[in-house]
Amino acid sequence: MSKNVEKHLSLNASLPSGSKKRLQKSKNSKHKESEHTQTLAEIEAPPVETIPAQVVEPEYDVDEAQEVVFKPNEGPQTSFLSSSEREVLYGGAAGGGKSYAMLADPLHGLNDPHFSGLLVRHTTEELRELIQKSQELYPRAIPGIKWSERKSQWTSPKGGRLWMSYLDKDTDVTRYQGQAFNWIGFDELTQWPTPYAWDYMRSRLRSAHSRDLGLYMRATTNPGGAGHSWVKKMFIDPAPSDKSFWATDIESSKTIVYPKGHSKEGQPLFKRRFIPASLFDNPYLAEEGDYEAMLLSLPEHQRKQLLEGNWDINEGAAFTEFDRSIHVIDSFEVPDNWAKFRACDYGYGSYTGVLWFTVSPDEQLIVYREMYVSKVTASDLADMILEAEAKDGGMKYGVLDSSLWHNRGDTGPSLAEQMNMKGCRWRPSDRSRGSRIAGKNEIHRRLKVDDFLEKPMLVFMDNCRNTISQIPSIPLDKKNPEDVDTKAEDHLYDALRYGIMTRPRSSVWDYNPAKQRSGFQASDSTFGY
Ligand SMILES: Nc1ncnc2c1ncn2[C@@H]1O[C@H](COP(=O)(O)OP(=O)(O)OP(=O)(O)O)[C@@H](O)[C@H]1O
Ligand SMILES: [Mg+2]
Repeated sequence: MSKNVEKHLSLNASLPSGSKKRLQKSKNSKHKESEHTQTLAEIEAPPVETIPAQVVEPEYDVDEAQEVVFKPNEGPQTSFLSSSEREVLYGGAAGGGKSYAMLADPLHGLNDPHFSGLLVRHTTEELRELIQKSQELYPRAIPGIKWSERKSQWTSPKGGRLWMSYLDKDTDVTRYQGQAFNWIGFDELTQWPTPYAWDYMRSRLRSAHSRDLGLYMRATTNPGGAGHSWVKKMFIDPAPSDKSFWATDIESSKTIVYPKGHSKEGQPLFKRRFIPASLFDNPYLAEEGDYEAMLLSLPEHQRKQLLEGNWDINEGAAFTEFDRSIHVIDSFEVPDNWAKFRACDYGYGSYTGVLWFTVSPDEQLIVYREMYVSKVTASDLADMILEAEAKDGGMKYGVLDSSLWHNRGDTGPSLAEQMNMKGCRWRPSDRSRGSRIAGKNEIHRRLKVDDFLEKPMLVFMDNCRNTISQIPSIPLDKKNPEDVDTKAEDHLYDALRYGIMTRPRSSVWDYNPAKQRSGFQASDSTFGY
């Protein structure tokens, strides 16, 4: 937001008394020197050897001497305060200094008479804490700023206003109807179970003076909480951390564009950014160590969220071992001679998930492409798949949800047959009893870091965004913890399971399950699973 955060925020009140005294003392001695008359001996003395000028560190702490009211911690706090995107989320570990940065952000603008800001928390009780902190910080940062308890609003001597309020139920948004703000902040964004309030408040973001002041929506949060999933889809999944990206629709993952008829029709609307926070960014809490110890004592999933700021962990998640830093790799062009195959879970009304796999020479299974589409007929899907893989080189086989071979009461070919006829060839997935749980176990086994190879045997290229988002947030079935909750969004997971259960190996084309004597025994000698 600011061009120079420190210039705006490092506000020096006066020099400390000690340094003032030191200045006075040197003035006096200078005065005495001028009174002193030079003696002959001094004039005739041989030239004294000169010492090069040296920078002498002041004996006092410069920040302390200047009474810096607020100085952002290096790293994410500074990035947050200087970010220029329309919507920014500063999120992650607890205690990283997120709320404090949120309070400091409007200080940039409050000195402008046209500034109109709104800072919300989910409930009034949580709001109190934030107001208290602002009462410590604001009067020191902007002398003369006034707090009105009745209006719950700060007004700077120049006239800039910041309203601190709450927004609990969706209907509370009517409090802000007809209002216009150029800065809106949500502290602890995942406390809002749906994106309704955030989306609604975006419509309040406008200002006649926006050219000078800019328009900003800012949010801070820890992972977890009722809104974990939508916040993750909006800010974390679309792009790597700390990278600016064009805002996407959280349902379709498509970039939001200006509507038909607008002069900018089809152009992207605005940018977002996610800035990850860590406790260790905040020297005010990190140094004490007690807070870290408390976070370390939490149960695993909470610890991962609050200490490590891990967004892939949600309570009750089936694949808690999923870790982006290990299981997501940069995309690369797969060599022609690596074994490749695909797997698909088909749904017309809901979604169809298709995954493409390859096996590296050291037997690591790599998911290198995904397709996640809705309302596509089997025949169109076949065309789309063939087009996507046209340059991939030999596709060894494809596995498809076996229910697609069922004839659904009509006389025509089944959906699987329709695709096979188009040249998009499939074999049926294993749907035998126990195959769901066996598939889940196999995914766990492959996600584990192999002791010998020191890497997991299943990884995803970073272009497989929907899969990377879905796999770690799939919940366990509460009634049957051996399996995942089938009501969750699981099409890509099912495709992964079908693919992984074909027991892929790098030499798959040489592999003849009928000849397999030791190791596992293939239950299906044709397809090898
Ligand atoms: N730049 C700073 N200057 C001075 N103090 C700071 C600064 N940043 C953070 N702090 C101190 O660290 C404390 C913890 O920071 P803060 O409450 O903002 O963390 P948080 O990330 O919002 O934590 P939580 O995740 O628990 O909400 C603040 O109360 C404040 O005292
Ligand atoms: Mg906070």
